[in-house]
Amino acid sequence: MKKAVNWKDSKWKTRMRITLDYKNMMADSVGKNYGITLSEMEKMSATAKRIDKDLKQGWRERRIGFFDLPFQGENVDKIKSFSRKVKSGYDSFVVLGIGGSALGPIALQTALNPPHYNLLTKKERNGSPKLFVADNIDPTGFEGILRVLDPEKTMFNVISKSGGTAETMSQFIIVRDLLKKRLGKSYKNHIVATTDPEKGILRKIATDEGFETFPIPANVGGRFSIFSSVGLLPAAVVGIDIEELLAGAAYMNELCMTSDLFQNPAYLNATLQYLANRKGKPMSVMMPYADSLKDIADWYRQLWAESLGKKVSLDGKTVHVGPTPIKALGATDQHSQLQLYMEGPLDKVITLIRVKDFGAEAKIPKAYKEIGELGYLGGHSLKGLLQAEMLATEMALTHNQRMNCTITLPEVNAFTIGQLLQMLMIQTAFAGGLYNIDPFDQPGVEHGKQYAYGMMGRKGYEKKRAEVDEYLKQAEGLKGYAV
Ligand code: PA5
Repeated sequence: MKKAVNWKDSKWKTRMRITLDYKNMMADSVGKNYGITLSEMEKMSATAKRIDKDLKQGWRERRIGFFDLPFQGENVDKIKSFSRKVKSGYDSFVVLGIGGSALGPIALQTALNPPHYNLLTKKERNGSPKLFVADNIDPTGFEGILRVLDPEKTMFNVISKSGGTAETMSQFIIVRDLLKKRLGKSYKNHIVATTDPEKGILRKIATDEGFETFPIPANVGGRFSIFSSVGLLPAAVVGIDIEELLAGAAYMNELCMTSDLFQNPAYLNATLQYLANRKGKPMSVMMPYADSLKDIADWYRQLWAESLGKKVSLDGKTVHVGPTPIKALGATDQHSQLQLYMEGPLDKVITLIRVKDFGAEAKIPKAYKEIGELGYLGGHSLKGLLQAEMLATEMALTHNQRMNCTITLPEVNAFTIGQLLQMLMIQTAFAGGLYNIDPFDQPGVEHGKQYAYGMMGRKGYEKKRAEVDEYLKQAEGLKGYAV
């Protein structure tokens, strides 16, 4: 990974600006029966202005908090100082979290640290600890993580906005017990909690037991929390430049200040995606051509799905809206998914992500000159091959009337990643306005959670338990439908 020069230098910032090329979303490129026309876009301008007004009002009234996250000086200083402490005293840093409380830290780590980071020596990691993210409760997976750790040299970061998520809190209880047994009273020096500044049981436990804590602002929900302590603390611990990251996010805020649909990259991309959906494309594929960005596609999948998949509109109507986000990786998924995208149903819109400068080439030596099927590769590089394949995919999609657009990152660094993530969050919030739903809630997730609470015997969920018993009884009568 190339180190950014200076995000305070305006020329460098302009050079590092990410761009969105949407020509292949348009009828002019993919054909009039398959693409969006300029006049369809222009018709959205007034709607864009209305949504822009609502979003900015939500920001001013502090209902929508993620816009402010790039500007949290004091918290950044506290995170940096705590991460220095972790660096000097611990070999491993383990995130306990799920959903928005885990996908952000994973995405940042994959994007901004070298591949196979945990396999590098401590010196190669610049003295930073290894990073593990326990984002599931699969017992084999969780015990597998614990098995490779030395508790005396490990810091656990329990992340939960609500402070009550069963998966995360179960992990926390297991870890706390393990640490207490191994380390006695000093167990609390191995737990740091990231949670709501005031509410929730995790906040209370942290205060009672004396854990170090970091806040997730009350007006920031899980999937919009990557630039809060949720993403920043693990990132700082593993040596990512969090100030540069936030500078990138702040820069994207600036670029998205305009209510002009054609000038605002986030509004523009949301509108293109929305119109594509209305034109019979409910599937939205994000396909970066860079390994470093594959977990950003995963993070975005949650952001887009959980924010926009809704039953009830803002005016109380049953609407059942929401595009289905799909993640893919170029070139890997050219040999897995691409056949479907090229020739299957015309129900997908594809966002390619290009990196111009990888900071690496991987030259292919000249070899097998006499063999036509191989000789042509010598003298090129893996970078050249990847970029050629991406252009080839873009062209083939376009020739097959498949709507596609391309986001380009001049290079992968904290500044460009900050821009990309903030753009996708603004895009999602704006898309909420287009679909006329609340992008910040997740009532559907709650539904399933309540049955789980009932089954696990949580007080107050006895009715849910009874519903589960009833369901199982009915299922018994239907057991002929299984082989
Ligand atoms: O985006 C969201 O709100 C969710 O995905 C949450 O992040 C997830 O359910 C975990 O919640 P919490 O952070 O409260 O433990």
